[in-house]
Amino acid sequence: MIKIYRLQDTAFTHADVVNLFKDSFAQWTENGLGSILLQFTPSEFAEKTIDAIVLVAVDDEKNILAGTTTMTIHHSKNERWAYHKYLAVKPDYKCKGIASQLLRSCIDIATNSEYGYILSNTSVDARWSVNWHLKNGFKKVGYYSTTTSNYFSYRFRYQLKSPSIWNCSFFTDIVFCFSYLKTRAMRKRDGGLTWFGNSVIKVLGFLKIL
Ligand SMILES: CC(C)(COP(=O)(O)OP(=O)(O)OC[C@H]1O[C@@H](n2cnc3c(N)ncnc32)[C@H](O)[C@@H]1OP(=O)(O)O)[C@@H](O)C(=O)NCCC(=O)NCCS
Repeated sequence: MIKIYRLQDTAFTHADVVNLFKDSFAQWTENGLGSILLQFTPSEFAEKTIDAIVLVAVDDEKNILAGTTTMTIHHSKNERWAYHKYLAVKPDYKCKGIASQLLRSCIDIATNSEYGYILSNTSVDARWSVNWHLKNGFKKVGYYSTTTSNYFSYRFRYQLKSPSIWNCSFFTDIVFCFSYLKTRAMRKRDGGLTWFGNSVIKVLGFLKIL
């Protein structure tokens, strides 16, 4: 029986979670994808999640840490929203609904606290994770590249409050298309600027001087 707890309410530690990342994200390394999670030390992870809600999925019968995820809270002018990060399930426990169970707990917390939406992201090449997001009701709303990874990423949004324009697939498809075209024109997969991106930055710099 899998149960979801906050990390601080269990006997598991940040070191146990970091070990879980190592097992779970081996799937990324095998597919040529780098993940920053594999470099975390327990104290770095503790520091990064100091203001976050860290959830763990525990196999209560065997006392095994089967999965984890975190959620951080952000504020914009008019609303509060959450960022869903560091989702990982132990290899033996994959495809049993554990990640979905973790997300359900995040949604319950976010809904009770009246957050507007949940954002998440993943590599476009991590098809297991992309499928998981789409299966669980996230919509693709962005496409980006950063210098801290060697791949393009999708940004996903799970809309909690409705009615909202973000519930309209036509609208989210248009937002995604713009983001995709902008990123592919401006950025390379390692986050560096393309020839076109460089030219745009130079022209903008020149116009600023004028
Ligand atoms: C992504 C991950 C968290 C999913 O956890 P999980 O508990 O196995 O997921 P669930 O059982 O809740 O959902 C299963 C769904 O995920 C997707 N999925 C999971 N593994 C998949 C695979 N190997 N290939 C394609 N889709 C896959 C499918 O949509 C699947 O639904 P289906 O069985 O109806 O096809 C898990 O694979 C994992 O830990 N991977 C490594 C770390 C990672 O990629 N984390 C996400 C970072 S954003």
